[in-house]
Amino acid sequence: ALRASFASKAQQDNKNLSYNLQPQASYKVAVLGAAGGIGQPLALLIKMSPLISELNLYDIANVKGVAADLSHCNTPSQVRDFTGPAELANCLKGMNVVVIPAGVPRKPGMTRDDLFNINAGIVRDLVSAVADNCPGAFILIISNPVNSTVPIAAEVLKQKGVYDHKKLFGITTLDVVRANTFVAQRKNLKLIDVDVPVVGGHAGITILPLLSKTRPSVSFTDDEIDELTVRIQNAGTEVVEAKAGAGSATLSMAYAAARFVESSLRALDGDGDVYECSFVQSDLTDLPFFASRVKLGRKGIEALIPSDLQGLSDYEQKALEALKPELKASIEKGIAFAQKQA
Ligand code: NAD
Ligand code: LMR
Repeated sequence: ALRASFASKAQQDNKNLSYNLQPQASYKVAVLGAAGGIGQPLALLIKMSPLISELNLYDIANVKGVAADLSHCNTPSQVRDFTGPAELANCLKGMNVVVIPAGVPRKPGMTRDDLFNINAGIVRDLVSAVADNCPGAFILIISNPVNSTVPIAAEVLKQKGVYDHKKLFGITTLDVVRANTFVAQRKNLKLIDVDVPVVGGHAGITILPLLSKTRPSVSFTDDEIDELTVRIQNAGTEVVEAKAGAGSATLSMAYAAARFVESSLRALDGDGDVYECSFVQSDLTDLPFFASRVKLGRKGIEALIPSDLQGLSDYEQKALEALKPELKASIEKGIAFAQKQA
């Protein structure tokens, strides 16, 4: 009887945890850059998912300890570690989703484009390995500058003959998370209800929150629109300055990326109602890549959502035109880098 009561106490304790201990699906996810500021909390959040059977962690250093640590959590997925380029192929084989937060973060005074020289080559090499080892995977790019690293990834995949534009995503979820938070705070709304689409790209003025499309419908004064837009555009810099040299957003980024991973897994699993904003190949504007809401399905992007760009306010229409030259230049810089290396 004593044993039985211990067993039921343990079961009760486990049930009290918010995550489900029974695997509900068996998707395989790899995180490249898993020992970093984003990689570690992201791996932890992904480890909580009941949809995953295998979680592969890759980095150039320090990933063994992260994997040993995480592997003690009693959630379904098995955690494995891979260190350095020689182990990258084994990390990637059979993966359904590959998340890439590898690369250097900003320090105060830097733009995201200042990271290009280091991160462009890192993303090129990692995506090249994805092309060789799991070409059908969803690829989620976090490494900055996203406005250039996604076009680099597309070029590398094209060069390898495996480009599927429906499966390549620049992660801009953090812009949406921030927009939702700031709008809810400013307008005293329940956080859970607020959804603001954010389009364009992921740097400075290329980040364009469409406040006129906020759900539920909210009215803003001109001052509120200006203040909220600027705050959302500068939120990354707000964190970089607060961290004062110790890096950029990691915890909110991990939260945002975990949301996108979970959405990807739900879409792979057949949920027909999955929408996220993402920087993807696009024909919604005259730019080849553009962030907008997309509908996700088993094969990746099922549809872009053009209605968000229709009926914009004058403020948004002007901001959209104003962001295009910078976004175009960043896209072209990425493409030129990848083509030069080919
Ligand atoms: P970090 O320095 O803490 O971690 C980066 C990790 O990448 C390190 O563990 C490092 O060893 C690893 N790494 C470096 N080269 C690698 C390679 N060739 N292969 C595999 N791993 C490699 O940095 P962080 O704070 O985690 O940020 C990572 C990136 O994410 C930065 O470029 C940052 O600008 C970007 N970021 C993007 C968003 C977004 O919204 N998309 C948000 C925050 C940060
Ligand atoms: C962010 O938006 O927080 C990231 O892009 C990191 C940065 O450099 O601001």
